[in-house]
Amino acid sequence: MWSTIATWPFSLQAVEAAAQILKNGGSAADAAEAGIHLVESDPNVDSVARGGWLNANGELELDAAMMDGSTLRVGAVAAVQGFEHPVTIARAVMEKSIHNILVGKGAEEFADRMGIERADEERLIMPAARKLYEENIAKLSDEVKGHDTIGLIALDESGTIVCATSTSGASMKTPGRVGDSPIIGSGFYASNTGGAAVATGLGEDIMRTCCCFRAVALMEAGLSAQEAAEKVVLTATQQIAKTGYYCDNIAMVCMDMNGNVGAACNHQDFTYTAIRENGEPQVVEVLPIIDNGGKPREV
Ligand code: GLY
Repeated sequence: MWSTIATWPFSLQAVEAAAQILKNGGSAADAAEAGIHLVESDPNVDSVARGGWLNANGELELDAAMMDGSTLRVGAVAAVQGFEHPVTIARAVMEKSIHNILVGKGAEEFADRMGIERADEERLIMPAARKLYEENIAKLSDEVKGHDTIGLIALDESGTIVCATSTSGASMKTPGRVGDSPIIGSGFYASNTGGAAVATGLGEDIMRTCCCFRAVALMEAGLSAQEAAEKVVLTATQQIAKTGYYCDNIAMVCMDMNGNVGAACNHQDFTYTAIRENGEPQVVEVLPIIDNGGKPREV
């Protein structure tokens, strides 16, 4: 039995590619990487790899990760430049290095050693991203916007669950800023003892509340994927609200070891895509767990 789920409508192409691999008995890691590759190469997705938002120096800096729930092995890269497929570097960190996270130049040199192809600026940076950057500079705006990570979970026929993420992070982010997407337990987590979770939204808030580790721990404790996602997003939102901050940019998807999926968000307009064995592709809009005019519930 296989199953796959991913964040945002632009991930439909990714789950379809992942499903093709899973259907043919392929591994969850192959499925996750192949699915994410399509989104990383899509110049119309402005928050992931090619076509992604630029940082405050006008550079495209990418974060990505992969985790294998059967081995608890992890690979992640952060603030990587000059590559179209950071998820492939993350997978190589997971499978071929003794480390968990590599950043910046070190990650890029590691990718070179692994024979992973570089891409030039003309291919990676789209005119729309450059234009937005120039406009922000002209307006002296350093407003940080857009954190739409592709996070994908795949469960394969052998019973292994893998999750992976990839993002360019927020536009106008401070160079060197690392979001939640390459941080284990925050933007992603997988363990065959419970399931997997991936998050999307404001990385700073997702990291503060370690959303994905919590969700997997809850599934391990017997909650369904849907219950786990809802509990984590609600708790994180309330925890942050208690500190006096406004928290309205967290979404996550979860999968248990039977391929059942769940999702929750604390804002409008979050959609996930999913395909299960013998099922049709699904594109599902998620209602916010907190729906009282955009403000967190009283805590
Ligand atoms: N969730 C992606 C980021 O904040 O960079």
